[in-house]
Amino acid sequence: MDTYYVTTPIYYVNDRPHIGHCYTTLLADVAARFQRMRLGRPGDVFCLTGTDEHAEKVVQSAAQRGLSPLEWADRNAAEFRKAFDAMDFAYDDFVRTTEDRHKTRASAYIQKLVDSGDIELGDYEGWFDASQEEYVPENTAREHDYKSPVTGRPLEKRTEQNYFFRLDKYEGWLKEQIESNSIRVLPDARKNEVLGRIRQGLNKVPVSRRIKDGDADWGIRMPNDPEHRIYVWIEALCNYLTTVDTDDRRRFWPANVHVMAKDILWFHAVIWPAMLKALGEEAPKAVYAHAYWIREGRKMSKSLGNFIEIELLEAYCERYSTDAVRWYLLTQGPLGANDADFAHDHFVETYNADLANGVGNSTSRVGNMIDKYLGGELTMLCDGEYGFPNGTALQTALQARQNAGKPAEGEMRTFHFANLTREAVEKAIAAADGFEVDEMVRQGLSLVRAVDDFISYSAPFTLAKQIDELEDGPHALATILYSCAETLRIASLLIAPAMPTKMAELWQGWNCAPADGISLEELARFGGAHALKKGQKITKGEALFMRADPKEDAPVAKKD
Ligand code: MSP
Repeated sequence: MDTYYVTTPIYYVNDRPHIGHCYTTLLADVAARFQRMRLGRPGDVFCLTGTDEHAEKVVQSAAQRGLSPLEWADRNAAEFRKAFDAMDFAYDDFVRTTEDRHKTRASAYIQKLVDSGDIELGDYEGWFDASQEEYVPENTAREHDYKSPVTGRPLEKRTEQNYFFRLDKYEGWLKEQIESNSIRVLPDARKNEVLGRIRQGLNKVPVSRRIKDGDADWGIRMPNDPEHRIYVWIEALCNYLTTVDTDDRRRFWPANVHVMAKDILWFHAVIWPAMLKALGEEAPKAVYAHAYWIREGRKMSKSLGNFIEIELLEAYCERYSTDAVRWYLLTQGPLGANDADFAHDHFVETYNADLANGVGNSTSRVGNMIDKYLGGELTMLCDGEYGFPNGTALQTALQARQNAGKPAEGEMRTFHFANLTREAVEKAIAAADGFEVDEMVRQGLSLVRAVDDFISYSAPFTLAKQIDELEDGPHALATILYSCAETLRIASLLIAPAMPTKMAELWQGWNCAPADGISLEELARFGGAHALKKGQKITKGEALFMRADPKEDAPVAKKD
């Protein structure tokens, strides 16, 4: 893989940034951070997010506030950026559809489709979902009692003369592309859904709207017919290409993955690839549609007023750290086909189990032991095949347990840290390829758990007490602690895309920040060129995460 390009939906500027927008953007951010490290060439990764600004409702809500549509859009786009900063997202570009770079290119693509006969004029009558700015097929409208399947608001019957995109021409091609995984529709359950719907037959898609008297000058006009405006959805999809359609960014096309929730999968898995085909462009390699966040068991909606807005997430960030919020959203979120519940109890449980008692405890325990027993410096490498020269270090540790009257039970176990870490990295890379970003970082956590298990088994604290009595004691203790620290270093690389700040803190204390320009496989080689070294100083530092009190009330959003 030479380059990696991941996108999020561009969000409607009319909404306040909430957990859903933050979640999808987090997934893209974590994937991009992982791939930057995996390739060792951050410049070859491109992560795009942004705002979708030409919807009709922007005009209406701007007017209600006495603002021009652009003033209102400016204000809200800034809110999204602020929210994404608070969540520590490192995207490479933030596109706004009101920018010239988008408008000019989107308009050129539409003209090209008119020229090729893929867009043509015709009459259209259908059920329009004004809350979603889209037409709903007759059978879906009927199924939902002529109400919006998304918001439940009544659908409107509309007839208009429109330009149409000939989606029907691409039915066979789409089926073949998706079936053969040339375009991967992920997760698998979604692929079947999309194929099922394609098999029902594809119709032409309206791509324009006639401008009425009194309409605000908002949106992009059809380049061949300025009486018509390009339908906002068609124009919005173009953002993925308009943003990288420059000399220096063209190499990122096609996107490796477009990420979104299941509400807008059809546009991304079917309409957009067909438009690209018609334009003579390559289709995205994958489209990933996750499920929804719900809150304390209930769907989030405007009418219930129970959205988890950015202010509440910020209150969690303030109390538990931004990285902890990122970790919770990422590992407990609706990445697969099932919705996920944001519940305070569950947050605290996950925080304590994975972070305070997991990553935090393990790193501070190992740091403290190195400080206490080795004077804060690694004195021994661990070069044996099993992470221990001939297993002797472990034998010595077990002897110490025996001497202390706390023998280990069962057969002697071995801990193949060189293998374990290599496997974890391989699994993380495979998970990243299928956009299973939660599984990707969980591989890091599994290494932390392996270190905990090893510490309980080898009991270095027991060994330390007998260091002068056992012939091989100092050697064994230093070897064991090296293995723990080196495994945690590799774990930290896999965890860093989710928790960049906390892992940077650890690297600072342990003097092991990953070098630039080196691929993950090189960085993560146990005992390899970038491993912890003999003589390396390890500062014990503060614990990365303090235990959370489950009895404490949930944080509340600060209102300004
Ligand atoms: N503007 C269109 C997208 C155009 S893309 C060319 C749009 N915008 S939106 O603001 O409504 O964003 C929808 C997206 O927000 C979802 O696809 C998802 O990424 C995210 N989420 C919104 N609510 C969500 C949840 N409750 N849970 C998880 N994510 C959801 O549609």
